[in-house]
Amino acid sequence: MDITILGIESSCDDTSAAVLRDNRLLSNVIASQAVHVKYGGVIPELASRAHQQNIVPVVDTALREAGVAASEIDAIAFTRGPGLVGSLLVGVSFAKGLSIARNIPLVEVNHLQGHILSHFIDLPDQELPHPEFPFLCLLVSGGHTQIVRVDSPLEMRIIGTTIDDAAGEAFDKCAKVMGLPYPGGPVIDRLAKEGDPAAFRFARPRVEECDYSFSGLKTSFLYTLRDRVAEDPEFIERHKADLCASLQHTIVAILLDKLVRASKQTGIRDIAIAGGVSANSGLRDGIVAEGKKRGWRTFLPEFKFTTDNAAMIAMAGHYRYRHGDFSTLDIAPEARLEEL
Ligand code: KG4
Ligand code: ZN
Repeated sequence: MDITILGIESSCDDTSAAVLRDNRLLSNVIASQAVHVKYGGVIPELASRAHQQNIVPVVDTALREAGVAASEIDAIAFTRGPGLVGSLLVGVSFAKGLSIARNIPLVEVNHLQGHILSHFIDLPDQELPHPEFPFLCLLVSGGHTQIVRVDSPLEMRIIGTTIDDAAGEAFDKCAKVMGLPYPGGPVIDRLAKEGDPAAFRFARPRVEECDYSFSGLKTSFLYTLRDRVAEDPEFIERHKADLCASLQHTIVAILLDKLVRASKQTGIRDIAIAGGVSANSGLRDGIVAEGKKRGWRTFLPEFKFTTDNAAMIAMAGHYRYRHGDFSTLDIAPEARLEEL
């Protein structure tokens, strides 16, 4: 029997709804919020207001594009957390309202599990490669940097995590001090293509086991800029591409180093990446090159599944639905959900 899931995602600054039939994506609508750009970061209060404006038309469009009526939906999957609580509340409340109005079961989804399970989505006209269990997933976003061992769609364990900043945060914060627009990750990625990755050297962390740290790199980047700008006020402008290329090169090297370690420790060689930073071209090339050297099968997500989207929430909801993991109407959003 086909399972049709409506997914709803509102954890940060993208309002998204998607319809999935089994693994096949029927629609995936994302309304991004431009309102935050002028502040150089997401303003939570503005985000929740924009979600309120967007949620009804976004869900409506997703159902229409999929050609699916509300009566055909088997379950509504929504992001419970982690994320901004005011933003999450809009998606959770909408999901509950629709559930009551149409008598459709609810399935809560952990946003991070969604990112990981995006590797099981197929396109309407194309099957995509799916990793086999167990696999390792490097989950890299604006708020998280984790190596996750995935034993089944519902059994995941974090085996390494950042002890301070996330990789996306390192991109965004360093971009900010260079005067680049928010979010800085994609801008650095673009500028890095014209720069020399060996032009500058920045601090590399020494952290135990498979854990990460990016705050030392951020500080060393900041100090380099401060010292050089003191000698030459035009320094950043003149060396922007080299700075971006060197920074990206360092972040990718840090990420790969622990991923290699995790693969050796577990013996797992199906390696996936997910989350906003998995769109980074340096990381994508780096994983593929490392994989060739080490006999990994590597899985890079389609670009549209790297940043926040409801397709991945629907995919995770599909597995929970099959497992009978339903949510009740007293469910509340959670800003922090550390366990997977
Ligand atoms: O997963 P995501 O959309 O939201 C969170 O759950 O955090 O990730 C957003 C993060 C931001 O830090 C953004 O700068 C980063 O992903 N990002 C990138 C690229 N595209 C998005 N970082 C580096 N290179 C990119 N191409
Ligand atoms: Zn995310």
